[in-house]
Amino acid sequence: MATSWNGLSSVLPEESYMTLITALAFTVLWLLWSISSYFRCRNRLPLPPGNFGFPVIGQTVEHLLALRTADGIRQWMQKQVDKHGPVFRYRFVGYPMVMMSQPEGNKFIFQNEGLSNHIFWPSHISTMFGPHAVITQSGERHKLVRCHLNRFFDRAAMGRYIHGVNCNAIRHFTNHWQGKEQLVALDIINFFTGSCVCNLALSLEEGPLMYRILEETQTWIGGLYCLPINLPGFRYYKALKARGSIFKLLDGLMEQRRQMIAEDHVPEALQNDILNSLLTVPDEEGNLRQDSFIKDNLLILLFGGYDTSSVTLAMTIFYIAKNPHVYEQILQEQKLIVDGKCSSGENENALTMEDISAMKYTWGAIQETLRLHPVLTGSYRKTVTDLEYEGYHIPKGWLLNWNSQHSHYNPKYFKDPFKFDPSRWEKRPPPFTYLPFGGGVHLCLGYEFARMEMLIFIHHLVRNFSWSLVDPSYDGPIIRDPLPRTKDRVLINVKRVIAS
Ligand code: HEM
Repeated sequence: MATSWNGLSSVLPEESYMTLITALAFTVLWLLWSISSYFRCRNRLPLPPGNFGFPVIGQTVEHLLALRTADGIRQWMQKQVDKHGPVFRYRFVGYPMVMMSQPEGNKFIFQNEGLSNHIFWPSHISTMFGPHAVITQSGERHKLVRCHLNRFFDRAAMGRYIHGVNCNAIRHFTNHWQGKEQLVALDIINFFTGSCVCNLALSLEEGPLMYRILEETQTWIGGLYCLPINLPGFRYYKALKARGSIFKLLDGLMEQRRQMIAEDHVPEALQNDILNSLLTVPDEEGNLRQDSFIKDNLLILLFGGYDTSSVTLAMTIFYIAKNPHVYEQILQEQKLIVDGKCSSGENENALTMEDISAMKYTWGAIQETLRLHPVLTGSYRKTVTDLEYEGYHIPKGWLLNWNSQHSHYNPKYFKDPFKFDPSRWEKRPPPFTYLPFGGGVHLCLGYEFARMEMLIFIHHLVRNFSWSLVDPSYDGPIIRDPLPRTKDRVLINVKRVIAS
């Protein structure tokens, strides 16, 4: 029997011979790869516990359903922690994820940002944000964009805005609250927070254009936590359409402003808004910003600055109504501020940054609302190297999920965690246990602005109105849509009180 290669080639056709050689080569390569993987894995730590569920889908549907109510997401998290421990793996919209439910895990993520992990959004969400938005950037690019925007959001900038935000609040209560007996707090407050951010970013006053932008922004937000099905009738499809509509409106505003700039005729009131800066301040290479860069970032500011603060205020109003002693204490704190102004001959309606700092208990009430119902319960980072954490191996390319749900309700850090107790904020909680504004390099850019506008709002609210819930027995569910709210969007009876 001819067994030489030559002999073999003589009994097999040439094509079969090539196929055989290729198959042999692949088999050898596969064997080598398997052997080297075996030796690599032999010394490697185990993966975090948990399971990936079905291929691609994993726990996507289960997780999205849980995300629809505050109890749902908290219970989902607790169930996973009880089953697997505080660090566990799961799969969400196709991505392998590791949930870090403890403060140590959140610290690990935030402190390694830009080193072993980078910000990451599932592709359907980053499509919604756009490729240039500060929230989708990492490393040096993120630093540069954030640096450009930071001048509008640091403490010093707040001193420039306080007067405008205060006037906005006074106008808001006169136009939208006075003379009303009943109102849907969440919907009405949207006008306040919406006009604050539209003013800051675009110098836009309350009116039809602002209403249109806010309405489209709300449809856009609806697409952030839903199944990414881009077909007519689905939320994601509507959200992408809304993004297009917002961009068209922004195109119009940008064109108008460019014309003013070209004619050197920008009114003083518009010269310091974010749009003007994005249109005139060049990037690090000396080039003016592209339109897509400007629009992606304006959209993220509209999102960041509008619904986040309004749902927080509406939920604060809900909790204050449920806790009359909290209303009394806030009222006393605010009266003290006004009394101080009156006795020193200052205008009692003009608030200063010192007044904001003095609103400690009021801020405690807002912080308590954000503890119970943070706007964002967590988000994602992607590992850029293989990692070891708590005795587990986390491969490069996996996602890490920082999350506040577990620690916000943990009695170890917040005694009696289901109780709404603003006085607990007299003491700071341990680091990385309280994360409504995120952490690390992507910590909320608008934190100072949000704090100031929310405190100013509550100041005028308690001085001028008392309120009660139309359904005082409402005890849940707190729906997440994706932001937290009551079923009736905080429907309240309102009564005017004499400001003193
Ligand atoms: C109650 C109010 C607010 C809450 C609870 C909130 C929450 C957050 C959170 C949790 C993040 C971090 C996201 C992450 O790490 O993945 C964030 C980022 C951000 N927020 Fe806020 N936010 C609020 C108000 C605002 C306001 C008023 C603005 C602007 C006008 C704003 C603008 C932003 C921006 C631009 C980012 C991205 C920062 C970056 O990636 O560097 N936010 N916010």
